[in-house]
Amino acid sequence: MNIGIDKLSFYVPNLYVDMTDLAHARETDPDKFHIGIGQDKMAVSPVTQDIVTLGANAAAKILSDTDKKEIDMVIVGTESSTDYSKASAVSIHRLLGIQPFARSFEVKEACYGATAALQMAKDYISEHPTRKVLVIASDLSRYGLHSGGEPTQGAGAIAILVTSDPRILTLENDSVFLTEDIYDFWRPSYSDFPIVDGPLSNETYIQSFGKVWTRHKEVTGLALPDYDALCFHIPYTKMGKKALLSVLPETDETTQERLMKRYEESITYSRNVGNLYTGSLFLGLISLLEVSQELEVGSTIGLFSYGSGAVSEFFSARLVKGFKEQLLANEHQALLNNRKKLAIPEYEEVFSQTLPKHGEAAEFSDQTRFSIEKVENDIRYYREN
Ligand code: HMG
Repeated sequence: MNIGIDKLSFYVPNLYVDMTDLAHARETDPDKFHIGIGQDKMAVSPVTQDIVTLGANAAAKILSDTDKKEIDMVIVGTESSTDYSKASAVSIHRLLGIQPFARSFEVKEACYGATAALQMAKDYISEHPTRKVLVIASDLSRYGLHSGGEPTQGAGAIAILVTSDPRILTLENDSVFLTEDIYDFWRPSYSDFPIVDGPLSNETYIQSFGKVWTRHKEVTGLALPDYDALCFHIPYTKMGKKALLSVLPETDETTQERLMKRYEESITYSRNVGNLYTGSLFLGLISLLEVSQELEVGSTIGLFSYGSGAVSEFFSARLVKGFKEQLLANEHQALLNNRKKLAIPEYEEVFSQTLPKHGEAAEFSDQTRFSIEKVENDIRYYREN
């Protein structure tokens, strides 16, 4: 049975910072951000958007009334949870109007969470082929003002509808995964921001890729020429490029050129958004599918997922007949093009705003489809416009 992605979309908040402005404000050469890190714009989330509203805004675009009756599970991959107990998936389930006899829960392992959710969804559909699973990756990637990781921040969500006989791509049964207990990036429960060992995180990312890639080749017999494109978790666009460059010498020049071209297409959206944490791999996949003119039915895409801490996975997918008609390229490109640019003092103000704590109340206005309307007695109330 073919199982995979039937519908796919993303949502990013409507505010951004230009990386040249950020470089000037931080007395850094703009080339470091644009070329050294590979980022042009960075999404900034207003206080009225959290992982619930970002996720609901992403999913609302793709779900039909029939989908809402047929979804059995809502799984949110995130590392930006706001509650130790209640899962964001429960609120998203209600906002989207999904039938009540469903499971809704969160999964966590840094940027790897949504990949775990996707594989769990695939396993569920193999037992329940007439049903559907909604996977959401939703995060606010925040390192703090003036921090080393500041140019690699971002925010946004991905929504993935997993079904049998999918209309975008099938997920192959070839996953190779790896767990290594390290501290390259982590966020203690008391802290608003992660602690990160930048050089170690870069090193572990590359080494993890090398390990799962090598084992995947051994298990499947597939090598670089068998792939039409490779997609990577993209904490910043230079990172995936380094991973790709580490294996390109394994193949001929034509394949190298093809994979580099596809990689550039896969980072088009991320260059303008930044790190989505658990959604980053899938933003790369959407960018590849919507920007590239070279992919066709049967094209094979390899995907590398990495979550600090660290868990990684390499798996492959195959495009199916009619995949182009399922994409939301125009809508996504309009979303990116119609955002408001923030001057650096405005960004610093927006970034520093927080929701009330300890039972205090506040009301907000935001024209987005789903947003936070008010906070009262430590409950977030959501508005649908
Ligand atoms: P840094 O110290 O600001 O930068 O840290 P750098 O000095 O390492 O320079 C970065 C690159 O810019 C270098 O290129 C420089 O040469 C170049 P490279 O050697 O890497 O090819 N450069 C310039 N290029 C052109 N013109 C110039 C110029 N100056 C310098 N004038 C770092 C950068 C990414 C480490 C930092 O921003 C950071 O800590 N970010 C957060 C951590 C991160 O993203 N790690 C990635 C791997 S871990 C991961 O992916 C998981 C994660 O998503 C979390 C999760 O799983 O939940 C992060």
